[in-house]
Amino acid sequence: MNIVLGITGGIAAYKAPDLVRRLKERGADVQIVMTASAEEFVTDTALQAVSGRAVRSNLWDKEAERAMSHIELARWADVVLIAPATAEVMARIVSGGAPDLLTTICLATEAPLALAPAMNHVMWNNPATQANRAVLEQRGVHILGPGVGSQACGEEGAGRMLETDAIAAAVFDLGISHGEGLLKGKKVVITAGPTRESIDPVRYISNRSSGKMGYAMARAAVAQDAEVILISGPVDLPAPPGVEVREVTTAEQMYGATHAVIEDADIFIAAAAVADYRPVAPAEQKIKKKREAMTIELVRCPDILASVAALDGGPFTVGFAAETERLEEYARAKLVNKKLDMIIANRVGADRGFDRDDNAATVFWAAGERQFPEARKSELANELVELVAERYYALRGTGTQPRLSIISNKNRRT
Ligand code: CTP
Repeated sequence: MNIVLGITGGIAAYKAPDLVRRLKERGADVQIVMTASAEEFVTDTALQAVSGRAVRSNLWDKEAERAMSHIELARWADVVLIAPATAEVMARIVSGGAPDLLTTICLATEAPLALAPAMNHVMWNNPATQANRAVLEQRGVHILGPGVGSQACGEEGAGRMLETDAIAAAVFDLGISHGEGLLKGKKVVITAGPTRESIDPVRYISNRSSGKMGYAMARAAVAQDAEVILISGPVDLPAPPGVEVREVTTAEQMYGATHAVIEDADIFIAAAAVADYRPVAPAEQKIKKKREAMTIELVRCPDILASVAALDGGPFTVGFAAETERLEEYARAKLVNKKLDMIIANRVGADRGFDRDDNAATVFWAAGERQFPEARKSELANELVELVAERYYALRGTGTQPRLSIISNKNRRT
């Protein structure tokens, strides 16, 4: 993975050489870009020694620009990580200003951007900083931390930069480290999140799905160079970079949005927790509590996954099965009944599955199965997408399989 590591002027910059080591231990190629104020805290001599590359800091350095211009640098990056990230650099990125090399790269890159904020806790809690954080998250920027604890200024609170190992692990967890181009040229449609079925204008039937697994699958598919359309129910997650998101609310809307794009899709992954039933006739006005008991008549929602699997010449279809018991039996029954190519089954209950960052899964297909132990949803998604690609080519692949001619990240963008 090619990482542009931006270092800005905070005391935590003294940890930068260690962060570079942690990233390189994981196999990253690190290009450091420092701001002028970062040079007050750490020397470029140390950083050059650990990174093995000349440190960049000046947008107007003609020699360095000739070797690799700031635009080339922005393209070279698989991820731009800023650690430590000051309140100032957060504000700059929000405003779109580009007065120096680092902020120019932030503006010019299409790679995911991750920030590890580090500042005094009052600065971090300042409404201006918090508003900037919210805007950045909404734009899909990954905010790593900050941690809580004693600060360099002698005070306690939120604003410590995360430990270097945690930052390195989080960067490799963004779903951008597996880009072997396995799904290059493939169109992948993914459903995610819950649906909401109206009872009246203020009430609805829904479920506890957070959308995290479907979003993680979308990131993992993009990391394999797929063209990804994510049809998402109401969730509280930023759009993954490089993914086209179509927002829907009800099962019927999700059905319509899916069929609008499915015709030339190669792979369909149904990760959404679609409502099985919806009220027959949602009330036009808010229902008043006049009666002691009430019954709401429900009708079946369309089964999106089964309808896609039934298409003539349709895509490779992957379903999810969330079960509280008899996992294999129920999952295999869904595989057969819905005529799927693959089903990803996982246990759900009060303490697992929904709205959590970790998950385990067992995948079943007609002639096989594979177990995936508990892992972060992003890591699990990377492995699941690799298996989807493997099964897809095993079943449908007549042309060249990208794995046979691996396109590395380095070659991909330069
Ligand atoms: N699914 C769908 N459309 C629906 C219902 C489910 O696309 N209307 C998809 C889900 O996205 C998931 C799979 O089907 O991939 C889940 O299968 P399903 O049999 O619907 O699971 P449950 O709703 O849990 O079924 P049951 O309650 O019978 O276990």
